Amino acid sequence: MLSGKKILLGVTGGIAAYKTTYLVRLLVKAGAEVRVVLSPSARDFVTPLSLSTLSKNPVYWEYYDKESESGEWHNHVEMGLWPDLLVLAPLTANSLAKIAQGQSDNFLMAVYLSVKCPVFFAPAMDLDMYKHPATQNNISVLKSFGHHFIPAENGELASGLSGEGRMAEPETILQHINAYLFEQAPLAGKKILITAGPTYEAIDPVRFIGNRSSGKMGMALAEAAAQKGAQVTLVLGPSALNSTNNAISIIRVESTLEMLAAAEDNFSQADWAIFSAAVADYRPKNPAQQKIKKVIGAEEMRLDLIQNPDILKTLAAEKRTDQVVIGFALETENALANAQKKLHTKNCDWIVLNSPDKNERGFGHDTNEVYLIGKNQEQIALSLKLKKELAHEILDILHQHHN
Ligand code: CTP
Repeated sequence: MLSGKKILLGVTGGIAAYKTTYLVRLLVKAGAEVRVVLSPSARDFVTPLSLSTLSKNPVYWEYYDKESESGEWHNHVEMGLWPDLLVLAPLTANSLAKIAQGQSDNFLMAVYLSVKCPVFFAPAMDLDMYKHPATQNNISVLKSFGHHFIPAENGELASGLSGEGRMAEPETILQHINAYLFEQAPLAGKKILITAGPTYEAIDPVRFIGNRSSGKMGMALAEAAAQKGAQVTLVLGPSALNSTNNAISIIRVESTLEMLAAAEDNFSQADWAIFSAAVADYRPKNPAQQKIKKVIGAEEMRLDLIQNPDILKTLAAEKRTDQVVIGFALETENALANAQKKLHTKNCDWIVLNSPDKNERGFGHDTNEVYLIGKNQEQIALSLKLKKELAHEILDILHQHHN
């Protein structure tokens, strides 16, 4: 769940701060990228050096680097935009009260006010402070902000007293984060096959027939599906795109025949198969083994083409009832009727209809506008937006219908 997630850990000044070294280690081991911001007094309990060594990132506690001559500015707004999750642990009674009030008297508080991501907080203090109505009220205020509360635990406290107030153990904090991420991962456990990009059909060793597809839509679908917890196999035609998400395994291919073979190998394991590739309908019948030479005096040349297999149609014909197949249709005229025809002839559950004739849509662009057409007469218009956002919307709709 934590693989590739960016976690910002905000540590405030309580004795439980010493446990954050172990928490950072757990988060990093689970695959998260971790950065740490300290409140000024947290440095009395845990050293920046320990935390920067374990997180492999610099640790900040001030707006600028007072100790170095450069006086490097630490941008709290930028820091606030970075994380997928902010975890405040331990959160002292004092910092809890400041957050409840929206105060910003140190770098960590300014970062907190700047973040746009979900926030988890794990209070830690002595039992009477924890029980105090002011503290309980502040906890309620943070909950009302939508922040995720990780309750303090019962046990021996630094004061020598015993009771509620100990910061939750790092393993428990990790469990809270994982449980949340699991809830946010509606496609967890799903295997999704995606074809994307163009195909190149060889004329000779140096020339090919191709098209202008960039693979952006397919890659956006792969990234969005992986973010939602799916395991993705992306069969990608020639494209400059790449992904570092380890839930996406990319099989790079050139031609339609290679794309078909790779998709065929992975189709039966897939719960959903999305065919977004712009596949060449025809390929040169007899690609030359050597570079074709220009014939002096010959004004014209002919290239014999042969029809490519239809990858989507071939595989959807073998579709099991538990599998969902999604095709794409690129239409410049009679778009709806043609897309509906493709839906039926290619045995799809859904067709994503694309009309690349308008500005900012389709091939090479970062934005797109599509219609989702379902085999049960559904017609859902998705307005012009970034392909990345569109990918999330398409997957959310599929999830609503095939949960
Ligand atoms: N497709 C495929 N293999 C092919 C041709 C198309 O898998 N040889 C898939 C595409 O990935 C897409 C869908 O079929 O999901 C429709 O592609 P499109 O190019 O719109 O339609 P075609 O069937 O090629 O028909 P036409 O070009 O005549 O519109």
